[in-house]
Amino acid sequence: MKRKVTKAIFPVAGMGTRFLPATKSVPKEIMTLVDRPLIQYAIDEAREAGIKEFIFVTSRGKGALEDYFDIAPTLEASLRKAGKRELLEILKSTNMESGAIAYIRQHKALGLGHAVWCARRLISNEPFAVILPDDVIAAEKPCLQQMVEAHQETGGCVVAAMEVPHEKASSYGILDIKEDLGAMVSVKGMVEKPKTGTEPSNLAVIGRYILTPHVLRNLTKIKQGAGGEIQLTDAIAKEIEQGRDVYGYRFRGQRFDCGSKAGFLQATVAFGLAREDLRDEFLQYLNEMVSLQQAAQ
Ligand code: G1P
Repeated sequence: MKRKVTKAIFPVAGMGTRFLPATKSVPKEIMTLVDRPLIQYAIDEAREAGIKEFIFVTSRGKGALEDYFDIAPTLEASLRKAGKRELLEILKSTNMESGAIAYIRQHKALGLGHAVWCARRLISNEPFAVILPDDVIAAEKPCLQQMVEAHQETGGCVVAAMEVPHEKASSYGILDIKEDLGAMVSVKGMVEKPKTGTEPSNLAVIGRYILTPHVLRNLTKIKQGAGGEIQLTDAIAKEIEQGRDVYGYRFRGQRFDCGSKAGFLQATVAFGLAREDLRDEFLQYLNEMVSLQQAAQ
């Protein structure tokens, strides 16, 4: 029986400059998709996959994130007094167990690999998950849960993977496929943000990982890679060089890149339409907008 994955690292130190001016005072992860902050989607996905310890790698200016996960006694009391039970339940569903969250500061923006490495002392000799909250994945069975199940079968490192157009490959970590097994691919190499035309495939890494503790040891030795940053991809690729297994997992679900404005808008439409309480009104509005746009062309 493989060891259970019970810890997840959430790298949330990024400045979110693509969303300025919104991110001048609000952390990107608190930005709202319908009525929940991005980070709540990541936490819920992790919880459903059996994660019990949540490690946030933060930076200056991310205080709102810590407050978000704290209980709000005054607000709870006033909702209780007003008999607003539904709202109280919504609020309570965001509460985290005492001691379940840890915050680590990444003092310098040296890259994703460095952010994960900052959490090394909180991970002992066990596999752990990494979730990038910018990548929001709508799925019947949450993506991380699918991956935990896959990892139970294979062991080793498992990274979420998705086919992307070749011209977009330079924005991702790209897998060099050893054997395509359908939902799983075994991997013989990984390249972070390859120059267009040099990508070994069009199978891209998406922000969900199940990693072995060796990756943290590799991160200690990794030099700056693509974009001058310490790359997580390079530390995982080292695993392969060291003779350990790495798999890509083609998850079932739809991924939204909420690190980009277009992706965030698409997610808003998709998640809005998925909500029973909003769907009819929203769909009608969207149809009207599309007709108006088409008429104007
Ligand atoms: C990060 C990873 C990259 C991965 C991507 C998925 O890149 O470094 O390997 O493909 O997330 O979203 P970033 O988007 O932070 O530049």
